[in-house]
Amino acid sequence: MKIGILTGGGDCPGLNAVIRGAVRAATHKYKWEVIGFLNGYKGLVENRSRPLTSAAVSGLLDRGGTIIGTSNVDNPFSFAEIVNGKRTLRDASDDVVRTYKEHKLDALIVVGGDGTLSIALRLCKEKGLNIVGVPKTIDNDLSATDYTFGFDTAVGIVTDAVDRIKTTAESHERVMVVEVMGRDTGWIALFSGIASGAHIILIPEIPYDLGKMVEKIYERETLGKHFCVVLAAEGAKPIGGDVTVKRHVNDPSMGIRLGGVANVVAKQVEDLTGIDTRVVTLGHVQRGGTPSAFDRILCSRLGVCAMDMVAKKQFGMMACLKTPEIKAVPLEQAAINRKVSPDDPMIAEARATGISFGDGL
Ligand code: F6P
Repeated sequence: MKIGILTGGGDCPGLNAVIRGAVRAATHKYKWEVIGFLNGYKGLVENRSRPLTSAAVSGLLDRGGTIIGTSNVDNPFSFAEIVNGKRTLRDASDDVVRTYKEHKLDALIVVGGDGTLSIALRLCKEKGLNIVGVPKTIDNDLSATDYTFGFDTAVGIVTDAVDRIKTTAESHERVMVVEVMGRDTGWIALFSGIASGAHIILIPEIPYDLGKMVEKIYERETLGKHFCVVLAAEGAKPIGGDVTVKRHVNDPSMGIRLGGVANVVAKQVEDLTGIDTRVVTLGHVQRGGTPSAFDRILCSRLGVCAMDMVAKKQFGMMACLKTPEIKAVPLEQAAINRKVSPDDPMIAEARATGISFGDGL
């Protein structure tokens, strides 16, 4: 058999480890051929690919990024092209089918986030392609799986950064507001905030009150702690207020890009308290570099399982961690978002250790 693989959406630590796991399973276990399409769905539309042999994936377990490239702006059903100097959108889904047939593919493995996987579902249903999905996102905002790969690595990177930020905050007696990713969920902020002992964690699921945040800063002052680390998820918002938007992307189906809440919060805190305040936006550092041991194991398992799902013809499904197993679940579930519940036991446990969520509880 011949299997195609692509990585779509934002990159994420562990993508290469998934590719390696899938290719190794295909070549060693099944004696199948694998090719990788370049830059997500763009490579399928434009028929650009490279062979993925067992040797080609050697040394990938610990390598960040994706060797076949990715894109979070290319949707074959609404494909952007420059025609006569103007950006136009067209339905290029039949180009995808043509590429699939030209390569005589038996199946396609799509590794991506909710956007990429919902396109995969349409290609399955509307075009009859045999697709197996592997969900990825550092945001961990998917209810179908216990953890998404890349999340553990991102939490480790943020934790390490906050450990370092604390020492400089203490030396200068400053408030440091650290902004982390997560879109409209607070998983990265919650986990790394607990791991690093951040003093205030702001997450979208618990809107904050500026006054209560300041109370927490003053409470620390009275305890002789003249510094404070506020860890803000990019989707954090004040009670009754809205998220801070960095920019709107061209294609409305691709949504908005969040960013800037740390700057807003820092200015307000400084204005109210007079305490010297600085902002650190960790940004794409959270997605770069080598995956953690947990993610390498998870990714290897997901890659192998995706190939096993091809063998079992479990198309229209995706490989998910349901501890201790990797299970096949319908691709439809890729769109079901998981948010942090304010009633999650981790919230109460964090509060018990003295962490504030900026809500005064
Ligand atoms: O979904 C992953 C993610 O890293 C989000 O946490 C973040 O909001 C977004 O992608 C950033 O996207 P881009 O790489 O397009 O800036």
